[in-house]
Amino acid sequence: MASSRFLALLAVLIGLYFASRFELHKTLGVHERATAAFSSIFRQASTEQTPEVVIAEQNSQEAFKSATPSSPRRPFTRHIVAVGDLHGDLGNAQTVLQFSGVVDSFGNWTGDADFFVQTGDIIDRGDDTIKLFTWMESLRAQAAKVGGVVLSHLGNHEVMNAIGDWRYVYPSEIETFGSVAARQKMITTGRIGRAWAQNYTATSRLPLHPHLGPPNTPFPPPDHPVHFKKDDGEDGEEENSSYYDANEPLSHSALSFVHGGLSPTYSNLAPFPTKINALSSSLLHRLQSRPQPPPHPPSPYPGLPHGTTHEEVELYDANGPFWYRGWATDSEAKACVDVEKVLARTGTRRMIMGHTPDFTGIVSRCNGKIIIIDTGISHAYGGALSALSIHYTFTPVDNEAGEPRWIEREVVSALYVDRQEIIVDQEREVVGDFRFNEV
Ligand SMILES: *[C@@H]1O[C@H](CO)[C@@H](O)[C@H](O)[C@H]1NC(C)=O
Ligand SMILES: *[C@@H]1O[C@H](CO)[C@@H](O)[C@H](O)[C@H]1NC(C)=O
Ligand SMILES: *[C@@H]1O[C@H](CO)[C@@H](O)[C@H](O)[C@H]1NC(C)=O
Repeated sequence: MASSRFLALLAVLIGLYFASRFELHKTLGVHERATAAFSSIFRQASTEQTPEVVIAEQNSQEAFKSATPSSPRRPFTRHIVAVGDLHGDLGNAQTVLQFSGVVDSFGNWTGDADFFVQTGDIIDRGDDTIKLFTWMESLRAQAAKVGGVVLSHLGNHEVMNAIGDWRYVYPSEIETFGSVAARQKMITTGRIGRAWAQNYTATSRLPLHPHLGPPNTPFPPPDHPVHFKKDDGEDGEEENSSYYDANEPLSHSALSFVHGGLSPTYSNLAPFPTKINALSSSLLHRLQSRPQPPPHPPSPYPGLPHGTTHEEVELYDANGPFWYRGWATDSEAKACVDVEKVLARTGTRRMIMGHTPDFTGIVSRCNGKIIIIDTGISHAYGGALSALSIHYTFTPVDNEAGEPRWIEREVVSALYVDRQEIIVDQEREVVGDFRFNEV
């Protein structure tokens, strides 16, 4: 009796399994993007029953006992919203920030997101440059009042404008500044130029868990140098295994944001993001402090200033973080091997970038390790209005052994005006005595 009931249950479960596989295949041709996301959920869901257990080295009985009963283990949550290229379109930017919950209908910070990230290219191809940069600074201030953070990035177009490469500037946009000279002043020593220098970086590393420190805490940590095996270009997989710090289960619980992409062959990935941001800040300073060359066109391309270092030239070239497109254009096979190297070196688990648009929606590759969020939001393109949303939760689990166990879960979704798609829904169990100061 009991065994026949068991067999019946087994038959139902097997049936469900095949039904779900069938559903998956049936939809494959129809909604490629959605099924790519679903199939990744499906694959991850199948491992969810037995989450990967990572034991922190510091989790000796000693370390655990030292946790005082007066510091109870509390759940931690973090909500991040990221938006790609905005290109001079305030109206569409407002729509996106509103449906993703970052702002209310007045364009004021709601406090719903802990972090709002914009990956650059606010300028060019539209007339709302001044309004957009002004709005970003007002959001930054509003956010700070309630413990929120706006992370802003320079795109290749911001740097082009600082160089004097004005090929994509609308004449009507120049009128919003008054004149060419007024525009040059505003983006160098004026309000917008100073905001770029003070509040914009080329890239960022955003920890999902505060145990790793505030945004842009460098990886590897200066006091824990990580030695990478030399890249012999032959066996990516073998090499990969040595990159992760097995003693620190949260070491890669972080995201990177950049405009173009972090190329696996770019020389200055580490320490991340400190090295890239230092180069970007010195290049920007060079550009903003030189006598402004007459813009191109009609004048010839001014190029980078005399004295620009070799590393700064590399920063701005096609393989550098402002321009790189390999994560959008490489084959799946190449991208999914290369991404491991970059994630390992940058202390992150996924890379989020703009720059290479897909007008139909956010592109997720290699199980969400590469996410491209430029969907051509500006009316200049007429692409999809989109935002990326990340919900991170870190929840203590009761267990008889009294060990400090946690469930770490990260849900990454693409948000559109009329729908949402889950790109990643991953969870794992982590053991360790993680301490942090609540923000
Ligand atoms: C919120 O939006 C309204 C309407 O635009 C504006 O008057 C107000 O100053 C905003 N609040 C803050 C704190 O900026
Ligand atoms: C940069 O951000 C800070 C914090 O919101 C603000 O006080 C400062 O004015 C901003 N800088 C510029 C030049 O806008
Ligand atoms: C690299 O290491 C990560 C983390 O251990 C693993 O998830 C991934 O599958 C590895 N990739 C390759 C190409 O070996």
